[in-house]
Amino acid sequence: MKADDVLTAHHDVLRGLLRDLAGTTDAQADRREELREEFLRQIEIHAQIEDEIFYPAVPDVSPLLSLAHAEHRQIDDQVATVLRTPVDHPQFVAEVRMLEATVRHHTMEEEQRMFPQSHALGDARLEELGRQLQDRQRELARSGGMRLLIRLKRATLRLTRA
Ligand SMILES: [Fe+2]
Ligand SMILES: [Fe+2]
Repeated sequence: MKADDVLTAHHDVLRGLLRDLAGTTDAQADRREELREEFLRQIEIHAQIEDEIFYPAVPDVSPLLSLAHAEHRQIDDQVATVLRTPVDHPQFVAEVRMLEATVRHHTMEEEQRMFPQSHALGDARLEELGRQLQDRQRELARSGGMRLLIRLKRATLRLTRA
């Protein structure tokens, strides 16, 4: 699988999780917690494999790259807000929808502008990068539990200080 196909498939997972999360009702608190946790896990993994493997390999797209990094930070901030918001809070779905809009914008931009430029790398290199992305993705998925816990703890600390 080529690198851009690996990342696009993962984008579908991320967008799907947020769509499902935004579609939950106030009565589905457990489901909300579950989906929020899974999204957090997946977005962490996604940002990390892009930052470590894909972005450094893409040639001559520096303006797109600085934009991408800025958008990752924006997503991070919005994820933190969603984490701080109790799932039964009246603003919860609104916060999720704002995050969803940012994620949608960022992933579409990658798919429509950055990925086509990555094709200059050639099929063999894209396949190689795709393998690296998938290996790292699996590795991070295995070690994801602990990092998630740390992050949730940090978010909770911010919440109690606020
Ligand atoms: Fe990205
Ligand atoms: Fe991405």
